[in-house]
Amino acid sequence: MSINQTTIEDIKTRIDIEEVISDFVSLKRKGQNLWACCPFHDEKTPSFSVSPAKGIYKCFGCGKAGDAIEFIKEVEGLNYIQAMGYLGKKYGIQIDEEEDTPEEIERQSLRESLFIVLGFAKDYFHNLLLNHTEGQSIGLSYFKERGYNQQVIKDFELGYSLDQWSGLLQEALKKGYTQQTLVAAGLAIEKEERAYDRFRGRVIFPIHNITGKVIAFGARTLKSDQGAKYINSPETEVYQKSKVLYGLTQGRNAIRQNDTCYLVEGYTDVISMHLSGVPNVVSSSGTSLTEDQIKLIKRYSNNITVLFDGDSAGIKAALRGIDMILTSGANVRVVEFPEGEDPDSYAQKLGSDEFKKFLQANHKDFITYKTQLFLKESAEDPIARAATIKEVVLSISKIPDALQRAVYIKQCSGQLEVDEYLLINELNKIQLQSSGGFAGAPPPPVTDFIPVEKPRSGLPDGVAMQERECIRLLLNYGDHKMEDGSSLHQYFFNELEEVEFKTAAYQQILELIKVELNNHGILDTARLMEQVSGAVKTEVIDLLTERYEVSSLWMDRFQIYVPKEQEMLPSVAYSSLLRLKYQVVKKLITENREELRLAELKEQQKLLQVDVALKKSRNKIANILGIIVSD
Ligand code: CTP
Ligand code: MN
Repeated sequence: MSINQTTIEDIKTRIDIEEVISDFVSLKRKGQNLWACCPFHDEKTPSFSVSPAKGIYKCFGCGKAGDAIEFIKEVEGLNYIQAMGYLGKKYGIQIDEEEDTPEEIERQSLRESLFIVLGFAKDYFHNLLLNHTEGQSIGLSYFKERGYNQQVIKDFELGYSLDQWSGLLQEALKKGYTQQTLVAAGLAIEKEERAYDRFRGRVIFPIHNITGKVIAFGARTLKSDQGAKYINSPETEVYQKSKVLYGLTQGRNAIRQNDTCYLVEGYTDVISMHLSGVPNVVSSSGTSLTEDQIKLIKRYSNNITVLFDGDSAGIKAALRGIDMILTSGANVRVVEFPEGEDPDSYAQKLGSDEFKKFLQANHKDFITYKTQLFLKESAEDPIARAATIKEVVLSISKIPDALQRAVYIKQCSGQLEVDEYLLINELNKIQLQSSGGFAGAPPPPVTDFIPVEKPRSGLPDGVAMQERECIRLLLNYGDHKMEDGSSLHQYFFNELEEVEFKTAAYQQILELIKVELNNHGILDTARLMEQVSGAVKTEVIDLLTERYEVSSLWMDRFQIYVPKEQEMLPSVAYSSLLRLKYQVVKKLITENREELRLAELKEQQKLLQVDVALKKSRNKIANILGIIVSD
């Protein structure tokens, strides 16, 4: 194929680099230039710039640079002529190409022949749906029942396959396609020399690649007793499931314009959302999103909103997959549908306006959503609560942007009612683990150790968390000698003399530590562990493995001296006891106020005095800890 010079000139004058590149990445204006994450290398912050005035692009990360034609060649893996063909098509410029010779057709790659036969099959199925009596009476009437209009039927190139063994096969062979090609395209199945159609008596959903070519099909049965509800093309030379998103061809402009991509489960969800006026939607075909698919979405928008069916069983399983989206640096939101509804059913039920309102009103930031979800389950159980914290912090640790992580830590500390520094500690631990600790040569990543001087003021559950912190210190440093020769546990037990931990599990561990130290003088954690089981044991192990190791990281990395936790023990112990007291007093205040609210008049005076006294002691502690109290 070749293109004559005038056509090339025509195309060149029409090219708008912003338009061309916008089909692949989502450009943001900053000053004279437009910026995006580079499509040619993996990055989380934009270093790819486009200058519309000069008609060129340049990536400051990987160095790739050129004009719009160069861009298309690079991104689509095309040669110059093919790139001009692409651009000509984009701008509706007729390309006068020379006739392909039979030899050239012969030389077409397998891929190209597959595209052609798949395109043929798509037209064949589409035509049957619209014009064949069986297609109309069965397929078309089914789509109409689902509320599909002409527009979506056309946009999605929906089709119908006749209820015959080889309807497509025979038609294709007649047109000169080979059986071999049909099999390679996943359209026909060969069994002992005989071949038959893969899709029979089903409505057809073509799957497109990013350039809009059909590369595979999904097919839904219309009979309730006919085996699998959906049959899909197998993977072929042109179809890799993990690299394709259903609906991207139809939705990509809307995704860019709205700067949000909704992610749903399947074909019918995508189409229903189009019908409801929400075309910025894709589906990953049942499986959880792959890295390649995330990259595809990120070409158009960095905001991904996952729509969950209203059945809680699936949600937990889906959460892990979402961590990967976080890793990509995208902003992830979630919308949960009511019990028993999916985007398809709910869009139909609500109608366009209400459905749009629903999406707007119910999208939640993913970390917030996950926190709430787990909190619901662990409300009354401190140990489960500790697991919740781990879960949430694990997700936060996936976010590549340190500032964003810090914001989430702050926010979650409020939601979880846990001091911020405990979350940071957990985050540091995860990041150290994933960087392989300090043993090896590679330097650990810069972590989030932000010294928090002012812990959040406690909320009721702060008591359990503070008890946990005391136990952690005792388990790890209980027999640590302080400057005056006394050991940490003595200090603790003196201070805690009359205090009983509110959390049964922590009280149990506390008692065990006491007995250990009284009987043996030292804290043998192995022996201690033999005396506990189940969740309590897990908790002990957890507490024993948590460390503020970041200190040494900072020392190594920045050549600054940050004392290790051990070295700060007296003050760490002092402030954590103080925080515990603070939490306990706060809880008492809350309880007292509740009592006050319900009390009879004559009792109120006494309770008010208690309130004043409690507040006084709370404020005294708060003062030492540097906590600002609001009432
Ligand atoms: N899906 C699939 N394979 C299946 C079932 C579902 O690929 N065996 C995908 C399809 O993409 C489908 C989506 O999941 O669009 C939603 O599933 P479901 O609601 O079961 O399919 P529908 O065709 O909407 O069926 P129904 O009319 O019963 O809701
Ligand atoms: Mn459905």
